[in-house]
Amino acid sequence: MKYDIKSLTLEEKMKLLAGRNTWQLETANGKLPDVFLSDGPHGLRMRDLEKNETKKATAMPNIVVIANSWDSEIAYLDGATIADDCIENHADVLLAPGVNVKRTPLCGRNFEYFSEDPFLAGTLAKAYIEGVQSKGIGTSLKHFCANNREYDRFYQSSEVDERTLREIYLPAFEIALQAQPWTVMCSYNPINGVWASENKWLLNDILREEFGFNGLIVSDWGAVHNSWRTAKATLDLEMPYREKAYEEVKEGYEKGYLTEAEIDARVEKILALMEKTENDKKVITTTKEQRHQNAVKIAQAGIVLLKNEDNILPLKGGDILVTGPYSAMGGGGSAFAETDYQPRSLKEELADRLAGKAVVSDSQAVVDSYYYVCGIRFAYQDAYGKDAVVVCVSNGPSTETEARDRTSIRLTRTQEDLILNTAKVNENVIVVVLAGSAIDMSAWADKVKAIVFAGFTGEASQEAVADILSGKVCPSGKLSETFPLCLADTPTGEACGDGFTERYREGVFVGYRWYDKTEKEVLFPFGHGLSYADFEYSDLTVDKKSETDYEVSFTVKNISNVDGKEISQVYVRDVFAMVARPVKELKGFAKTALKAGESKRVSVTLNARSFAYYSVSLKKWYVENGDFEILVGASSRDIRLTGKIQISLPENEQCSH
Ligand code: GLC
Repeated sequence: MKYDIKSLTLEEKMKLLAGRNTWQLETANGKLPDVFLSDGPHGLRMRDLEKNETKKATAMPNIVVIANSWDSEIAYLDGATIADDCIENHADVLLAPGVNVKRTPLCGRNFEYFSEDPFLAGTLAKAYIEGVQSKGIGTSLKHFCANNREYDRFYQSSEVDERTLREIYLPAFEIALQAQPWTVMCSYNPINGVWASENKWLLNDILREEFGFNGLIVSDWGAVHNSWRTAKATLDLEMPYREKAYEEVKEGYEKGYLTEAEIDARVEKILALMEKTENDKKVITTTKEQRHQNAVKIAQAGIVLLKNEDNILPLKGGDILVTGPYSAMGGGGSAFAETDYQPRSLKEELADRLAGKAVVSDSQAVVDSYYYVCGIRFAYQDAYGKDAVVVCVSNGPSTETEARDRTSIRLTRTQEDLILNTAKVNENVIVVVLAGSAIDMSAWADKVKAIVFAGFTGEASQEAVADILSGKVCPSGKLSETFPLCLADTPTGEACGDGFTERYREGVFVGYRWYDKTEKEVLFPFGHGLSYADFEYSDLTVDKKSETDYEVSFTVKNISNVDGKEISQVYVRDVFAMVARPVKELKGFAKTALKAGESKRVSVTLNARSFAYYSVSLKKWYVENGDFEILVGASSRDIRLTGKIQISLPENEQCSH
């Protein structure tokens, strides 16, 4: 180790266990390097401590868009791009990514999280972390754990049974840890009555010992209630600075609750982090413009075409109107990146791409991204006689934000009226939705010809959306979260706990697992997304590679005359189980580029964990011998190929970690 703990006094070691201000670590009177932790997942959100303002950086698409790309290369590119802004501004650790499961669409921070499915979330988060850390910048996998809504997040205990924790709320962390994030951030909330920051079972027994995490555990900002208790639970670093922190550690030590060896174990993690920040990988390889272009590429990959009646998209030309409020940058709170990029309007971007084919105007009632409620009510009048109307609707950063949940998953009434009134006067309406989580579109979805879910696409939004609408880019995103018909159909409905506890009554039946179990119709299923191309699936084979490993292979053919990309999903179903199991569970996926007419063989490997459930009785992951179905789908509700295998493991192989 470069920094020797023996050079530190006991007081210096105790003070190291908390930050010296909001963003920086202690330096033991200058003996140690100065380490700066900074948000955020959608681009650097770093405090300029001299000017007391947030520095400007590239505002990348939000995590919801990376998730909808189902593309690890895109996630990696996103992380690596943000890292260049970190290097330029001397931020050492990026406080991202968040992998909390989207248990309810009401959660205010869903735009910051990947999915309702832990396998998809963990796989993409792993790539994001690899991207950031490939540049010598650290990450903070967050918020560990079961922080699935914002309501009363500091105090309300998430009451989760162990099997549900193991199968739903821990696996995204477990998978993402394969990228060896430098830090993991504990959440604010208690889990089954014990603060995450003091939860030794979660922090030490599971995260460190079972999952093999050997980095530093940092608290969420203000998540520590007693510093010696957190140190004893093996939390390493309390953020931000808190005046009483040192006194509490000192008291714990003097009263014998905390030993010097326990303090040293935490200090060693801090010294190891400091050493990691001094590396030769911090080389900026992109210009500001190239970062912007990366943002465009990432946004293009994660935009989802939900509906395209009469193939109205891509736009053909003619007299086109663009209307509606365009607020695309991102959700609110610590993840909001401040950019100085000045995007052109969607109307201008579309006009460029359709030059010579279309005349594109925008509604008089909409001025840039700000609109007057009274004006917008009459904006539909501009739609008379147009060949097509693009209606942009959005949840701004005050609707979807940290520290607050939504109370509805519908759009504002004004925006719904704009869609409905426009559809009354024009039959060719395309709705572009800029939001971070599921929207109840049931009031208007059947009255418009096309729906594009762009997500919060950051500074690249207008360009990427115009690329998709104009056909310059073929849409290839798919939903990483189910869009239900209404809030009442979701596992939690309008409930948000009682301020003390929130019981995860639905257990493992979260997201599509819930809608499958309850056999509910949904507006748009998990994994759904259309393309301008068309894909055919055939020739499924399931080859046994070992006692527990199988290779699932199938052919995907692009039967259209448009080049495109197809996200294929592999689900597993335990035909007969001794415990209640979801109808199907995502255990593999692939995104395949296919030129017009091209066929490719796609393969996905399944292993023991793909078939296992967590047995609370055996305290292990357990594979029940018997029949399993392998379901290959274009979405969770559009299964194209089905195969069946019989698993008969020897007794000693049935249990695995
Ligand atoms: C916030 C968030 C966390 C963020 C941290 C620093 O409260 O929960 O995600 O990284 O504090 O801003």
